[in-house]
Amino acid sequence: TRTTPYHINGQTYPLDDHSNVPPTILAKLDRNLHLNPSHPISILRSIIESHFSTFTPVTPSSPILTVTQNFDDLGFTPDHPGRALSDSYYLNKNHVLRTHTSAHEIETYQKGLNQWLLTADVYRRDEIDSSHYPVFHQMEGASVWPSSELYKLPQMNAELASKLAECPLIIEDTSSISPENPYQKSHDPEHAAQITQHLKHSLNSLIFRLFGPIATKDGEPLRIRWIDAYFPFTSPSFEVEVWWDGDWLELLGSGVMQQPLLNRAGVPDKSGWAFGLGLERLCMVLFSIPDIRLFWTEDPRFISQFTPGQITPFKPYSKYPPVTRDVSFWIPDASKKGVTQWHENDYCEIVRDVAGDLVETVQLIDEFTHPKTGRRSKTYRLTYRSMDRNLLNDEISGLQSEVERRTISEMGIEIR
Ligand code: PHE
Repeated sequence: TRTTPYHINGQTYPLDDHSNVPPTILAKLDRNLHLNPSHPISILRSIIESHFSTFTPVTPSSPILTVTQNFDDLGFTPDHPGRALSDSYYLNKNHVLRTHTSAHEIETYQKGLNQWLLTADVYRRDEIDSSHYPVFHQMEGASVWPSSELYKLPQMNAELASKLAECPLIIEDTSSISPENPYQKSHDPEHAAQITQHLKHSLNSLIFRLFGPIATKDGEPLRIRWIDAYFPFTSPSFEVEVWWDGDWLELLGSGVMQQPLLNRAGVPDKSGWAFGLGLERLCMVLFSIPDIRLFWTEDPRFISQFTPGQITPFKPYSKYPPVTRDVSFWIPDASKKGVTQWHENDYCEIVRDVAGDLVETVQLIDEFTHPKTGRRSKTYRLTYRSMDRNLLNDEISGLQSEVERRTISEMGIEIR
């Protein structure tokens, strides 16, 4: 574990019992994939920016925010799970690596912008598989109107609806306004309904633009659905999902901005909507990129395939064979004093720290509780694979024993 304070961009962040950012994550802070015009993340960003042509593009500078900016200001309750040390990266108890681009909403409204798109890297501790990585990119979009302009919304909705009429996708809307997902009391319900409709039409037209060229998959029309959601800073709230490879894949969260947040940003007279979209997932679907680690590879065979402004399918340069290792261990008994609760994300963090992008998946394949002792056992399968080269067996054995050594000393597990 770390003993020296974090020094980042001329700032010092003293360590405390919250500090949990490993060097592998710090190294990602200045990669800025979203600013490299040939990178799929940036290509998608520009396409979305050109779709929302009247919106101002914004790029925030630092991913280091205060806990107030990232959570409190947005109405996250003190016990919200997103704040947990097992889910977020803390430099110390007051500073986090932003966990979502919504953390920049207030400052952006404060600048007086009414329609904007903000793109940035975000950080979350997570499991390990082909679609989860602890750093990813989000695009936040928002549109707010001074109350005097809200009367234009029915007209704008009619225009958007006519453009969407020949959309070949199947867009299902299973969301509904209810006591669980209500219009806000301070809003005129007619205005709130118009804003909600404008939000849905605007995002459906983006989806049409992005998915239109691949509107059918295996002969079936592509299915998109709107469902109810909950976010502390919007009401009503919605998510959009796409049916992909036999599963609903989440594309974005959205909703009508909570009025108290706009009031706090100094624009009490405005209301409107916002969305936050995960760029990696969308890129994986649109560019046929099979593994999220590919976005981070520095192998020129990846980046050289892409052309600014164009969505083209990725051609795998090779699929190298995986190397797997199974490991079974007893997890520590958290009912004992001084023993920390087992969190799979902590385990994954050590694996990533040791193996970096060579680890492809960490899967729980078995677990049981010993009938007599009550001890709990877990068996994990670790799959290693490089995106760029063949792995050597000895190399993996070395990594695997380092993972075991660290999980024994840092997490108190006992190998079976
Ligand atoms: N910030 C939310 C997330 O990361 C997404 C969101 C953005 C929801 C804007 C509503 C409005 O999940």
